[in-house]
Amino acid sequence: MGRAAAAKQADALVLFGITGDLARKKIFPALYAMTRRGVLNVPVVGVATSKLSSAQLRKRARDAIKESGKINDKPALDQMLSLLHYVSGDYNDPGTFAALKKALGDARRPAYYLAIPPVLFATVVKGLAAAGLADGARVIVEKPFGRDFASARELNRILRSAFAEDAIFRIDHYLGKEAIMNILYFRFANSFLEPIWNRNCVASVQITLAENFGVEDRGAFYESVGCLRDVIQNHLFQIVALLAMEPPAFQGFGAVHAEKAKVFQAMRPLQVDDVVRGQYTGYRKESGVAKGSDVETFSALRLFIDSWRWEGVPWYLRSGKYLAATAAEVLVELKPPPQRLFDDSAPVNGRANYLRFRLSPNSAVALAARVKRAGKEFVGDQRELYLLDERQGEETPYSRLLSDAMAGDGALFTREDAVEAAWVVVDSVLGTHNKVHRYKRGSWGPKQADALIDADGSWHNPKPVKATK
Ligand code: BG6
Repeated sequence: MGRAAAAKQADALVLFGITGDLARKKIFPALYAMTRRGVLNVPVVGVATSKLSSAQLRKRARDAIKESGKINDKPALDQMLSLLHYVSGDYNDPGTFAALKKALGDARRPAYYLAIPPVLFATVVKGLAAAGLADGARVIVEKPFGRDFASARELNRILRSAFAEDAIFRIDHYLGKEAIMNILYFRFANSFLEPIWNRNCVASVQITLAENFGVEDRGAFYESVGCLRDVIQNHLFQIVALLAMEPPAFQGFGAVHAEKAKVFQAMRPLQVDDVVRGQYTGYRKESGVAKGSDVETFSALRLFIDSWRWEGVPWYLRSGKYLAATAAEVLVELKPPPQRLFDDSAPVNGRANYLRFRLSPNSAVALAARVKRAGKEFVGDQRELYLLDERQGEETPYSRLLSDAMAGDGALFTREDAVEAAWVVVDSVLGTHNKVHRYKRGSWGPKQADALIDADGSWHNPKPVKATK
């Protein structure tokens, strides 16, 4: 897929919310990695309300990078730190934007990264526009992109009041992961898949994103979001779109965006009974969490895509905190052979053939088929043939996505229509839903989630990393 043709490189990067958690955990390490790769050599201006000097900001950045791993390239670190400047001020004060303008000097194509709570987006976008800082610039927006269809639409309206669609980069960091980019490549760089990749041969598709830890220090944030909004409407839906989309009409990411948007538009809006919500024991005691909280830390759902290709094929999606492993996998289960010629064939003996995409923490693509055991009897086992089995590439999603946005390449970002269509699918169950079911920490979630998938088989539980094979 081609990169954005004549897009010009951004000549400054402005980070709103530079003193926040995201900057510490992801952005500073990404900036360091980008400097090491030689793709960051423009001024980086941090903006936040805290009163800090540029020197203090550099110290924070150094500490954050150290925290994220070993520093093995001191010159790159020094170079990155030398690019950093700080502007402090209230986002409501035009003086803050005047100071930013001054700090930007001659820069004509800055990229603004809004790593701030969404309630502040409108204020910052208006502040930029009023100071004449939006022309020729790009804006990078962190998730969550709205909290329902109406707020996402409003957010798009605000962004579009100052920026063109191709200057807006909505981040879903899953799109920057190697294993997820490989879904697109694997589907359309091969021809063997296409004849079976539809309702004639696929029985069901399931995706699990499991984490064996809790909400950690993000209790208050999680209370306002819950699992469905946090990872399913965005990360898991993006994976569904890549798996379900039609071949793009031409080489170029505009065509990919168009096909992905059609998948969201064809998804049937969820009904209350399509969703099982769970909450791990002890969640209500986490800091920032309400005593009687009904917020879900686990969500399992059954989804249908009403398209020619996928009519009648159930898609099962599941994610949760404090589950039995930290791993993400897709399992595309094929229909069993039409006639049972051997006693041990599926579905009697476990799953039919399947294709498994391991997405994290390592990546693998495995194709499972039955082979006969040596001996007189016609019995066999399902074996996995590995097409890919490797550690993730070195580049982190944030370093990849930030450098793409600065280069004006919107391939791995989400488009306005797709984001809104994805919200439409979940909108009906955001406010109206069954109560959460408790589940034990270290389990695979509440048993009601097993009942959800029962008619079509059972959940495939991804193994922890050490036991991939
Ligand atoms: C984030 C969610 O978007 O994705 C987190 O807010 C979640 O709750 C995280 O843990 C998962 O991302 P990754 O890259 O660690 O799988």
